[in-house]
Amino acid sequence: MPHLLPSILSADFAHLGEEIARVERGGATMLHVDVMDGHFVPNLTLGPPVVESIRKITKSVLDVHLMITDPDKYAPLFIEAGADQVSVHYEAATHLDRTVRNIQSLGAKAGVVINPATPVSVLEDILDVADYILVMSVNPGFGGQKFIPNALKKIQRLDRARRERGLDFKIEIDGGVNRQNVESIVRAGCDWLVAGSTVFHSEDSTATVRDLQRLADGALAVRV
Ligand code: DX5
Ligand code: ZN
Repeated sequence: MPHLLPSILSADFAHLGEEIARVERGGATMLHVDVMDGHFVPNLTLGPPVVESIRKITKSVLDVHLMITDPDKYAPLFIEAGADQVSVHYEAATHLDRTVRNIQSLGAKAGVVINPATPVSVLEDILDVADYILVMSVNPGFGGQKFIPNALKKIQRLDRARRERGLDFKIEIDGGVNRQNVESIVRAGCDWLVAGSTVFHSEDSTATVRDLQRLADGALAVRV
């Protein structure tokens, strides 16, 4: 079953608790948390204390996306703060296998993220280790960008590799997800769909989450 993950990057941080409660009323059980360091991406967001505060007010799965140059140093701090799963960029991790296994050894699920210009082929030797692969459908750094359709081909490739090799990693997409593309994303084989501005910049985020989830579920019904 596909899951819709609201990305709190586009939420009103002065009312974060209420913003989270609203999307959970719409059925969200996983929340996407973007961590940016001003080096790997040209933007800054939040650190472990914010994750710790969020952890206290929700039982939802906290999916922390590290867009930082030093994931080995900071991933443990986010897990300690309450992250259930942590993803690191292929482009930022020099010893990716070690990084992924280290996250898992600390009790969290580990994901590997690829940027739009990074091909799926480089993941060949990490697919049987990682718990999930996150395909960026925008260049990371900002919410509200336009969806890059090439991501759909990457999802299809990953889904094929998963079936051919009998693996069970999840496939996640992040960036530019909206009402128009949800169904094709799910049909391509995606399990977790991150949506930031579509959810939090809408008039009624509860209804938007419900709506996107309904579209995702409907698309799966016709998936072969
Ligand atoms: C972008 C972030 C995304 C962002 C997506 O670098 O990783 O998680 O919140 O925002 P939308 O859904 O607005 O493209
Ligand atoms: Zn993200």
